[in-house]
Amino acid sequence: MRKYASKNDGKELALQEEAMKKASAYVADLARKLDRQPLCCVTTFGCQMNARDSEKLLGILSRIGYAPTDKEEEADFVVYNTCTVRDHANQRVYGRLGFLNSIKRRKPHLKIALCGCMMQEETVIEKIKKSYRFVDLIFGTHNLFKFAELLVTMFENQEMIIDIWQETDQIVETLPVSRKYAYKSGINIMFGCNNFCSYCIVPYVRGRERSRDPREILQEIERLVTDGVVEVMLLGQNVNSYGRNLDEPITFAQLLREVEQIEGLKRIRFMTSHPKDLSDELIDVMKHSGKICRHLHLPVQAGSDRILQAMNRHYTKKEYLSLVEKIKAAMPDIAITTDIIVGFPGETLADVEETIDVVRQVQYDNAFTFLYSRRTGTPAAAMEEQVPAETAREGFDRLLKVVQETAKERAALLQGKVMEALVEEVNEQDASLMTGRLSNNMLVHFPASQELIGQFVDVSLDTCHGFYYTGHVVEPCSLKEAVQ
Ligand code: SAH
Ligand code: SF4
Ligand code: F3S
Repeated sequence: MRKYASKNDGKELALQEEAMKKASAYVADLARKLDRQPLCCVTTFGCQMNARDSEKLLGILSRIGYAPTDKEEEADFVVYNTCTVRDHANQRVYGRLGFLNSIKRRKPHLKIALCGCMMQEETVIEKIKKSYRFVDLIFGTHNLFKFAELLVTMFENQEMIIDIWQETDQIVETLPVSRKYAYKSGINIMFGCNNFCSYCIVPYVRGRERSRDPREILQEIERLVTDGVVEVMLLGQNVNSYGRNLDEPITFAQLLREVEQIEGLKRIRFMTSHPKDLSDELIDVMKHSGKICRHLHLPVQAGSDRILQAMNRHYTKKEYLSLVEKIKAAMPDIAITTDIIVGFPGETLADVEETIDVVRQVQYDNAFTFLYSRRTGTPAAAMEEQVPAETAREGFDRLLKVVQETAKERAALLQGKVMEALVEEVNEQDASLMTGRLSNNMLVHFPASQELIGQFVDVSLDTCHGFYYTGHVVEPCSLKEAVQ
């Protein structure tokens, strides 16, 4: 059996274990000084990949003796796992750093670490070095697996520690992980991106595309299932090109077939699908699967062919629409969601009308709409016809209206139906309600006991509220099986 990823894992793991031991001693020392267990808070910005990375950071912090907290102001160690996909994400980090500084003035033992995509940008590092001297540790996306070692260096030094790598060929996925949810988990199946959509910074901050060995993915999922996980989300920037560059190539659809075989696993999700690489084989596997959820996130980004070409997306409006038609013909009950950018250089309101036309034709169940954000270093940032803010805003508002109307119409179609939901958590607003997720990714709130968390129930979707439902449990599914 080829050991591409784990070849380094053994040696690396030993190194990190050693570092965790050393770091534990520093945390124990702090605990004695504080006369309580030190607290840590990991704040995540950005996408599911970052959320998964944060679980790895928290795994190590818990192992060395920190207890987790959601409240930054209570913590003795704060980590910001940053995103830089749009400028707004960066600004939020700078804003919150100011707040952290005020806490650190009152609590000098507070340690602050920054990591994630934003840290892969030189200009960001320069700015932090100049204006945010109180940060203790900075590292990037490629050396996250060195976190334990970096912590030791931080504890042993007073000055700011900065360690950013430009690339890595190592995949280390066997370190401790603290999962946010007991019953569901994300799994990295690939890292980086080779698509270079002209507006997007991700390929520059996450590096080239690398797929994990399928056997390691399957083993990880098996371990998770043994640990109580019933739903997995396979993660990659473009899962449809998974496996192409492995020594023994395999398609994403083949990987899904294998994941489907894992006993005890109930639901499979994945993110994100690039339309240019979505194969007939994948549609076929989804159609015949009892576990793959009836949801496909298929970012369209724009509807005008001229803009799609300038975005380097490699499909036309017509090609996208016929792909959707094929998917819907195979799975009439599938929910399709998307990402859309408004205000890409050169985009006119007539172009936005093309996007709106796509929304009307596809009838998305949900669409995430973004105003174009100029990212330094991407080809689009250098394009001449940057769109004035008012024009972009007008297009955005027109689009949003249609997105909301169509999503509402779609959601209304299921009102009154009984569907299976995975009970996820206590409702944030009303503790007497539980929140469940349907296969199509919609949420439903219903009265039930907390003991049902992590279980499947049949829920009647009594009232549609646009983007979610309220309902009642018809019959817990486990009960249903027990009776049969
Ligand atoms: N790999 C995924 C998306 C990653 S980023 C994919 O290809 O679908 C998530 C979304 O952020 C993108 O789909 C895009 O809609 C949006 N986005 C990326 N760069 C952006 C930019 N410069 N300005 C505005 N939105 C952007
Ligand atoms: Fe960015 Fe395009 Fe890669 Fe998605 S596929 S991460 S939008 S470059
Ligand atoms: Fe943001 Fe990085 Fe994800 S830039 S969207 S956190 S890959």
